Amino acid sequence: MRIIDASRPGGPEVLEIMRHEVPRIATSEVLVKVAAAGLNRADLLQRRGRYPPPPGAPAYPGLEVAGTIVEVGEATSEFRAGDRVCALLAGGGYAEYVAVDEAQVLPIPGTLTFTEAASLPEAYFTVWANVFEIGDLKAGESLLVHGGSSGIGVAAIQLARALGHDVFTTAGSAEKCRFCESLGAARAIDYKQQDFVSEVLTLTHTRGVDVVLDMVGGSYLARNVQVLATDGRLVVIATQGGPTGELDFSVLMQRRLRITGSLLRPRSVEFKRKIKERLAAEVWPLIAAGRIKPIVDRVFAFHEAAAAHAYMESGAHKGKIVLSLE
Ligand SMILES: NC(=O)c1ccc[n+]([C@@H]2O[C@H](COP(=O)([O-])OP(=O)(O)OC[C@H]3O[C@@H](n4cnc5c(N)ncnc54)[C@H](OP(=O)(O)O)[C@@H]3O)[C@@H](O)[C@H]2O)c1
Repeated sequence: MRIIDASRPGGPEVLEIMRHEVPRIATSEVLVKVAAAGLNRADLLQRRGRYPPPPGAPAYPGLEVAGTIVEVGEATSEFRAGDRVCALLAGGGYAEYVAVDEAQVLPIPGTLTFTEAASLPEAYFTVWANVFEIGDLKAGESLLVHGGSSGIGVAAIQLARALGHDVFTTAGSAEKCRFCESLGAARAIDYKQQDFVSEVLTLTHTRGVDVVLDMVGGSYLARNVQVLATDGRLVVIATQGGPTGELDFSVLMQRRLRITGSLLRPRSVEFKRKIKERLAAEVWPLIAAGRIKPIVDRVFAFHEAAAAHAYMESGAHKGKIVLSLE
């Protein structure tokens, strides 16, 4: 089969089409003929040699796909050959076929296309795990999402809004802010023009928000703490603004704040199964009903993976970028 991998660590131009054996399935796995593969910022880091796949995962990139099941393992029970599915992967999605544990496979919701479905798994697994499980966002609580126009951001805004939460967000231009508001954010703050702390405190009448979903890390730590309400939770999923920051522990104690974070990719299959079950029950029906929409900014052909990476690196996109193999 054809795969796409980096011939050496570097810029988008190092991505090449290569040949690889079709993966053999384990008894708990299914083989999916890939129709579309979602792009993620982690793929850019992996291409640069800075985010190696966890043990046991394919060495080539790709964290999510949609396609058709062509073979099922003996110990599987949920799917049959011919089913249209999407799947979360620990790697190997930039390929014509993937072998994946059925614990990480979901049916395609409603009448979504393969390219739309390929945009879902990584964002919704991440958002559910970090906002609703780890961040424990409860009924009536509010959420601040940084990077609201990112693949993760568009999922977090729509899902939290659909479940009845007030959502505030940050984005890097007026146009991206309007876009985030069109998805349901009560207010999007242009972080390049405005101070998100004073904006959020004004919008919440000085109370702050209950949960912050952060992808900036160190440089935002002090400000994220300032916008949290009493008993608030900060959940960090990336350190694009650096890995270290300074923290005033007295504020942490006075307001009983919790600071945490997680990485989805190295988590166990069993953890991913639990998230999948929550998505199937709580989120896929909202997508099937059209209350949450897949936001695919641009679709590139499989052989255009380098252009797709360059486009993501430019930061011009809003929502997800997908590779099509159809
Ligand atoms: N921990 C996990 O399990 C996990 C899982 C999935 C994704 N992630 C992380 O989540 C992030 C989003 O992923 P994605 O694939 O959706 O990427 P993406 O679409 O490329 O989005 C990246 C976002 O980061 C924002 N950003 C970058 N630097 C910033 C800064 N200094 N201040 C404020 N915002 C900044 C950008 O905002 P503007 O364009 O508006 O400037 C953009 O919205 C990535 O960092 C990724 O590694 C983590």
